[in-house]
Amino acid sequence: MTKKIGVGKAHSKIILMGEHSVVYGYPAIAIPLKTIEVECYIYPSDHSIIFDFDDTLSTAIYAALDYLGKTQVAISYDIRSEVPQKRGMGSSAAVSIAAIRAVFDYFQQSVSDELLEVLVNQAEIIAHTNPSGLDAKTCLSDEAIKFIRNVGFEAIDLNLNAYLVIADTGVHGNTREAVDKVAASEIDNLPFLSQLGLLTEQAEQQIIAKDCQGLGQSMTAAHAFLQKIGVSLEKSDHLVSSALEEGALGAKMSGGGLGGCMIALAETENQAHKITDRLRKEGAVNTWIQKL
Ligand code: MEV
Repeated sequence: MTKKIGVGKAHSKIILMGEHSVVYGYPAIAIPLKTIEVECYIYPSDHSIIFDFDDTLSTAIYAALDYLGKTQVAISYDIRSEVPQKRGMGSSAAVSIAAIRAVFDYFQQSVSDELLEVLVNQAEIIAHTNPSGLDAKTCLSDEAIKFIRNVGFEAIDLNLNAYLVIADTGVHGNTREAVDKVAASEIDNLPFLSQLGLLTEQAEQQIIAKDCQGLGQSMTAAHAFLQKIGVSLEKSDHLVSSALEEGALGAKMSGGGLGGCMIALAETENQAHKITDRLRKEGAVNTWIQKL
């Protein structure tokens, strides 16, 4: 049985702490952005799809069709996304989740989150080569999570009465390139990755203690180590400094880096707006405010 149109949705994510070090087994803390969504539609078509395995979306559609034994079926697909691509907001994972949900919906099959995660990570290997699984897990979660590769995840009670400013540098990040760059100097980078791991543990304690000042300091300290492993860019550094000048409690780049987004912690909503105004003046192409 098929439907006229299959529909699947997913939301995006932002990493608070632990990008890159999570690839090496250290914990990461990430937040779902439930209002920034992707939708995928599957339609009947005259032709079966020609898959492009260099493309995450095409690979995700293939993974779902292959699981269902339907790779020869004539369909086409369309994506509508509010998630900017290549900005560290989990666009590839969110697009894959929406696409897989849409394929299962089209064939009127249910798909568990466990199966979705396996299929999404197959597609993520195309986008990221060696994904930790953090993006897929956060895009599948409705709550903030602490995630450790190959170990598991737990929900985090993020109730800080603070605001996270997210700003898009406008520079396309490249997670695969950034992860490869860190790996190419692994021996030199290991001490910095370990420091990033410690800062993430510290940030978790600060979240539990509702210590926003401390959390901000951990974020800014993490940015310095992300610079040392070579994944920040001048524009991200500039936006981080500008946010701090504007009174942010802390600021850092977020996600794979080499462009993409930066984040800043604000004590009040008013301060969050002041920071976004300043970041836009300093060249951010888009900004969002997320209550924590
Ligand atoms: C990318 O969103 C996060 C990285 O830590 C890579 C990964 O976790 O696979 C840079």
